[in-house]
Amino acid sequence: MPNPFRPSAGANPPYLIGRDSVLDEFDDSLESGPGSPYRLMRITGSRGSGKTVLLNSLGKRARARHWTVFDETATPGFIGNLILTLRSEYGSRSIKSIDLPSVGIEGVGSADLGKVEFNETTLPMTLRATLTDALDRIGKRHSDHGLLITVDETQGANVSDLRALATAVQHLIREERNIAVAFAGLPGMTSSLLHDNVITFLRRAMPVELEDISLGLVSDAFEEVITANGGAITPEALQIATEATHGYPFMIQLVGYNIWRKASGSVIDAGAARAGVEAARIRLGGTVHEPAIEDLSSVDRTYLLAMAQDQGPSRTGDIAQRLGKDPQYAGRYRERLIQAGIIYPSAYGYVDFTIPYLRQWLQEHAATLMLGGN
Ligand SMILES: Nc1ncnc2c1ncn2[C@@H]1O[C@H](COP(=O)(O)OP(=O)(O)O)[C@@H](O)[C@H]1O
Ligand SMILES: [Mg+2]
Repeated sequence: MPNPFRPSAGANPPYLIGRDSVLDEFDDSLESGPGSPYRLMRITGSRGSGKTVLLNSLGKRARARHWTVFDETATPGFIGNLILTLRSEYGSRSIKSIDLPSVGIEGVGSADLGKVEFNETTLPMTLRATLTDALDRIGKRHSDHGLLITVDETQGANVSDLRALATAVQHLIREERNIAVAFAGLPGMTSSLLHDNVITFLRRAMPVELEDISLGLVSDAFEEVITANGGAITPEALQIATEATHGYPFMIQLVGYNIWRKASGSVIDAGAARAGVEAARIRLGGTVHEPAIEDLSSVDRTYLLAMAQDQGPSRTGDIAQRLGKDPQYAGRYRERLIQAGIIYPSAYGYVDFTIPYLRQWLQEHAATLMLGGN
């Protein structure tokens, strides 16, 4: 029987757990018209918390209402690409025919040139004009139809791209156009690294913080997916599998996938669950822990290794001491790791790991990590 679980980045799970309320709110906002709060959303969470698949589902809801959806990843220059795509689909009208102030026409590229460099100062207006064009055409079909733009990996965006999008969308919302934007990224995407007016815009968006999913929902989902696909699971196995996920979405898929594989016949028993959980934990190391650590500076890594000496939440004072640094210095690294979605302040003066099993993984790899570094 084919394995129903989907343990890979951006792959839609067989059952999207715990997201009904945000999807319903979004749906209501599409129905309710311009200015509804969930038409502007910012989704934050660590790697593997389910940001991309939530964007996928928002897109599905929007399409069900005959909205047009553009899914973007915020690589540098992505707004330029969005403009080209929009123009090639909606842009038979020339940009000059749009009521623009006389500035802002220069530097506007033409779609058939292929790669176009957009001028940073005219970018917001070019985007606004292009979106207006697209919305006019979409609205002509039916006044309730609109345009959803999803922006993934927002933490990697250029400030000029975000500023253009912020400016354009703010105007379109004010003009009561049917536009919605959902941003997703690591917790630090609204940090001070971004220019002020961009942050203000992002902060005004409805925040959706992806936290651990409750184990009750995880357990129900496992049972439902497994039985719906012709399998079965014993109560003990279900409990072992559920607890091992820690409610972390990526681990839910990894555990589900591996316990399914380890089952002999169609029943997943406790033995299969234990073996599957172990396999899942190893895979999590390679697919989540390792890339998350690779992105960090060697000082950030040292901070995490100092945390991994504890068996539970770490006192920030202890970490500074272990690093031989003053608390302010250690505090800066703590802040960066929080923004990267790797750790979180679990109580006043304490930090803990966001991603399950990262502590254990760091303990197992401490020696190699100390030698490496950049
Ligand atoms: N709500 C959820 N319920 C079940 N599985 C989920 C959920 N959200 C995400 N997943 C699974 O977790 C993994 C990571 O999801 P993804 O959206 O790629 O995370 P992110 O974009 O935050 O790194 C995928 O395998 C996906 O199927
Ligand atoms: Mg993602």
